[in-house]
Amino acid sequence: MMVFEPGRIKTMRLPNRFVRSATYDGLSDASGAVTDRQIELISALAQGGVGLIVSAIMYVHPSGQVSAFMNSIADGADMGGLKKLVRAAHSGGAKIAVQLYHGGREARFVKTRKQLPLAPSVVADDPYYRGGYREMTADEIATVIDAFGQAARRAREVGFDALQIHGAHGYLFSQFLSPFTNRRNDCWGGSLENRLRLHRDVFAAMRKQTGEDYPLLIKLGVEDGFEGGLSLAEGVKAAKMLAETGYDALEISSGVRGNAYEGTEYKTRIQKPARQGYFLTWAREIKKRVGVPVIAVGGFRSMGMMEGAIAKGEADFVSLCRPLIAEPDIINHWRRDPEKKPKCVSCNKCLEELHRGAPLRCVVLAGQE
Ligand SMILES: Cc1cc2nc3c(=O)[nH]c(=O)nc-3n(C[C@H](O)[C@H](O)[C@H](O)COP(=O)(O)O)c2cc1C
Repeated sequence: MMVFEPGRIKTMRLPNRFVRSATYDGLSDASGAVTDRQIELISALAQGGVGLIVSAIMYVHPSGQVSAFMNSIADGADMGGLKKLVRAAHSGGAKIAVQLYHGGREARFVKTRKQLPLAPSVVADDPYYRGGYREMTADEIATVIDAFGQAARRAREVGFDALQIHGAHGYLFSQFLSPFTNRRNDCWGGSLENRLRLHRDVFAAMRKQTGEDYPLLIKLGVEDGFEGGLSLAEGVKAAKMLAETGYDALEISSGVRGNAYEGTEYKTRIQKPARQGYFLTWAREIKKRVGVPVIAVGGFRSMGMMEGAIAKGEADFVSLCRPLIAEPDIINHWRRDPEKKPKCVSCNKCLEELHRGAPLRCVVLAGQE
């Protein structure tokens, strides 16, 4: 089967086409350092057959921190712990990319330091997002760009095989790209080019720090979940521009969220094939237009659909999150039995518990023990 064939992203050789999509786990310690439970989780995924593991979100600058128990790759990061994460992936036969993150207006944790989260603009009466935050100054944007460059240097130093910018799901990069959340009238707002300036300047800062051969990936939200947000037509253009900028692979997901799970990356009730692989049509459109590998994500639950996506050239890799929370070794199961049904029912209880501050686990399976 083609999903089990080796793949490559720039210099990174991968044993198969399965990616573990970035998954926040609430398992770091309170200083952002790596814990033994995180190392065990990465080991289990690597031994379970995933080719490329994308880490949990890690903040590159304190102004981007969204929660208390998330990892840091900012100044003062736990370099020893990060090295152990890398070793855990490699000893299980997987590659590992770190996901570099800034929450923008959603970086609620900064309020515990009596500061306001930062955003491209303040949107008055936003029906989709409430909570105090303020507009970034040009100097603050420059500081964040530099922080991504420094984090990229650390990523390479500790041995991550690649890095991925979190450019989806309504966080800082999505906020800059969306015409709804970016109302600036300086060089950071207005035209699509300007709304992508952050993505491109961050790329340049990272490339300078990592050298030419290091794979720099981006997870890109190409459509917002409401009228008046980023349209798919613009999202597709953005993907093309970022491939031309030099990003080495694009993982295609959604942008700023609307009100419900439906239409977002967290779509539920995806047992029926018609609801599975719910962003694959976007990935397919982008794949036709770019020369770099495309990673499809969102609701992949059956080998038939994943194999079809790769075999038909709609995507180069398929990426999964929730099924691997329930069964970190599901890829090995699929290798033995392609008809196997995942235990994950995509109920999002894992996510809801994380939001309440509990560490990551499959709530449904835990209830059956
Ligand atoms: C508990 C949980 C944590 C997540 N954490 C992240 C994250 O840290 N970074 C990210 O880009 N996406 C994150 N996501 C989104 C997933 O990576 C993925 O895009 C989404 O869940 C759709 O894939 P799936 O249907 O295979 O779960 C998270 C999703 C869940 C359910």
